[in-house]
Amino acid sequence: MKILLVCLGNICRSPIAEGIMRKIAAERKLDIEIDSAGTSSWHAGEHPDVRAIHVAANHGIDISKLTARPFTKEDYKIFDHIYVMDDSNLEDVISLAPSQADREKVKLFLEEAGGYFFTSVPDPYYGSPDGFEKAFSLLEEAGRKILDKIRPK
Ligand code: 4NP
Repeated sequence: MKILLVCLGNICRSPIAEGIMRKIAAERKLDIEIDSAGTSSWHAGEHPDVRAIHVAANHGIDISKLTARPFTKEDYKIFDHIYVMDDSNLEDVISLAPSQADREKVKLFLEEAGGYFFTSVPDPYYGSPDGFEKAFSLLEEAGRKILDKIRPK
């Protein structure tokens, strides 16, 4: 199974979620591949935001070598599930879907996790460092819930 995580810049929320979910998947020996992308190409080729790298490192996860890339409609051919961080990402990703079956691969990350009364992971990019810690906690909890639905190999 191949999972793609998508946010706007691919330098804050989705690479943090990628690092968290790869670690949990490895611990649980889950047979899945996890990647991330951004709906924009603004930061293509860059490593994650230093604040994202730091918050992940504080939790024992190295995301410093990930590089940002834009989401393209080719991703629909590769991935089984595409989880987006907010409503705006949802609209952008769905607008590129080649078919109805592809459209159905796309879900809000928090809706797939379940149990939240809000649908978007707040974007920490313009906020205080505290926002990165909050984003990490939310992404970890929701990422764990999503992986709880997947059986080990
Ligand atoms: P992300 O955060 O979508 O979680 O990676 C952002 C990163 C960069 C920008 C906006 C959000 N930006 O405007 O450059």
